[in-house]
Amino acid sequence: MDTVLARLPRDIASPSAGFADSLLAGLAKTPKEIACKYFYDDTGSRLFDRICELPEYYQTRTETLLLTRHAREIAGLMGEEIEIVEFGAGSLRKVRILLDALRCPRAYTPLDISGDYLAEVVRSLAADYPALTLRPLVGDFSAALDIPVLPGSPRRAGFFPGSTIGNFRPDSALSLLRRMRAGLNGGGLLIGVDLVKDPARLHAAYNDAAGVTALFNKNLLARANRELGADFDLDGFAHYAPYNAAAQRIEMYLVSLKRQRVHLKGHPLDFAQGEPVHTEDSHKYTIESFREMAARAGFNPRAVWTDEERLFSIHWLESR
Ligand code: TRP
Repeated sequence: MDTVLARLPRDIASPSAGFADSLLAGLAKTPKEIACKYFYDDTGSRLFDRICELPEYYQTRTETLLLTRHAREIAGLMGEEIEIVEFGAGSLRKVRILLDALRCPRAYTPLDISGDYLAEVVRSLAADYPALTLRPLVGDFSAALDIPVLPGSPRRAGFFPGSTIGNFRPDSALSLLRRMRAGLNGGGLLIGVDLVKDPARLHAAYNDAAGVTALFNKNLLARANRELGADFDLDGFAHYAPYNAAAQRIEMYLVSLKRQRVHLKGHPLDFAQGEPVHTEDSHKYTIESFREMAARAGFNPRAVWTDEERLFSIHWLESR
């Protein structure tokens, strides 16, 4: 079995070289920002797995429940002998539910930006599914999606759980969906989408009592210290994640608690007291607003599953 990590063909820059440039560019802007894909180094991927188990973070639990409850119906819609292509695969836990329900899946192609973490989780998946062709690809799925076709060109089904689509602004989300549709060569897409709801519930999910989300947010700065030799004072920044009800999104910031100067690769970076650095958005949709966007991206929204409390949704989109 071949579980050697390959890079996405057009993922040119190594993630770490990209990190320094992106950080310098983002922190030179007003307001300052850091691109959210840099959350996911090895440490960040592990912190994110802890977020998924937090009592306040209902998303993972609800999506897993929906996948389990509807696995047979989903497998029926996806069809037989398919290649599953997962975008931003993370821990590879959710796909196991699909793999167990599918009839003779031919191959599984997980894409993730965190190479070390992907190598590790793929090893354990390979042990549990010895007959499955595994083709892990390291890279940024938001930048490049030309995934080489496997021998026999099995039909593809995309898998994009975790409401990661919400981490893109609606215009970027639309173009990402279009590119995914193109990359799936006519195959459908199974996608998890977090829903608008009581702002208090949303707020709690991104401001957990144990402070794991704060650690995850600050890992951007810790990673810059580790990888790039920067000197961010982690106690000099606060995690702040309010819900913007008008824009229907959680906005995540690191707020400088004092006037301070940080050094990054010989560049001085100045922060005013109270100055925010934007690190992430997490857009929420209604079932209808998401189906509308999917249709504009050229998909035919077919089935949708949600829980009793309407916390989360999973959509099966077919290619038109
Ligand atoms: N897709 C996830 C979401 O928006 C990512 C996420 C969850 C996240 N919790 C986070 C990102 C905390 C940054 C910080 O819900």
